[in-house]
Amino acid sequence: MRHLSSLLIALFFFTFAALANAATPSGIVLVAFGTSMESAKPSLDAIDKAYKKAYPDTPVIWAYTSDIIRAKLAKEQNQKVFSVKEALDACKKQGIVSIRVQSLHVTGGEEFNMLQRMIVRYLNKNPGAFDHVYLGHPLLESSKDLDEVISALLASVKEKRKAGEALILMGHGNDRGPSDITLAHVADTLHAKDSLAFLATVEGANTFDTILPELKKSGVKKALLMPFMVVAGDHANNDLAGDEDDSWASQLKKSGISVEANLIGLGSVPGIQQIYLRHTKDTHDDLANPTKKD
Ligand code: CO
Repeated sequence: MRHLSSLLIALFFFTFAALANAATPSGIVLVAFGTSMESAKPSLDAIDKAYKKAYPDTPVIWAYTSDIIRAKLAKEQNQKVFSVKEALDACKKQGIVSIRVQSLHVTGGEEFNMLQRMIVRYLNKNPGAFDHVYLGHPLLESSKDLDEVISALLASVKEKRKAGEALILMGHGNDRGPSDITLAHVADTLHAKDSLAFLATVEGANTFDTILPELKKSGVKKALLMPFMVVAGDHANNDLAGDEDDSWASQLKKSGISVEANLIGLGSVPGIQQIYLRHTKDTHDDLANPTKKD
């Protein structure tokens, strides 16, 4: 009898939860800087696929923050991608009242700060438009994230990299915002875990010059190059692996280190997709209800 009543109570709550869910149309907005390069597409497609698998009944809407890239896509490829404002407008039009916005940035740097400002501005201009706008934070937010990112990354190159070969990652970096200090910590943690793994950035303070002397000193003969960015776009193809004199590949070759390019964005690595998904699921950062709870 006792079992029956607890079963009934459980059933009641299940039904209630299902009804509450159906009554709260929700949506996911994935926000990336954006890219117009074909080589970058697979990483964003892989993320799209992972989200649609994890949220089969929820609309997944994309937005790019870069005005230049959206204009370029519209002009050259006749492709319309939403801005953050347009994506929120689309949610409103579809009657979505609870949104999970996921930043696909790597660090909580300048681009992520701007995304927050865009959402807050939208909410100020459209009061009451949504019940909830939960913000999923970038890839690297906690020590747990960092551990998982490094493990996923090293596992993903295991077959491509032979013993004694270096792994060289190109992060983005930025003089403004906290990206540089986050990426410096990634570089140190990665290097402590794998003494032939290095990370430097294309912009900001952690330049290639900060790792080149140690690379030369290590005596490695070959290096696997990979972007530490969500997509393998312009920086990966040109600044990292390109033929120009000042690309990292050219500088390494000049130093007697042969290179192999692994032009795969972080978004293509399943373990990385799982971290973004965890951030989307676990966030309590509701920009529509910014109350301090403790
Ligand atoms: Co850039």
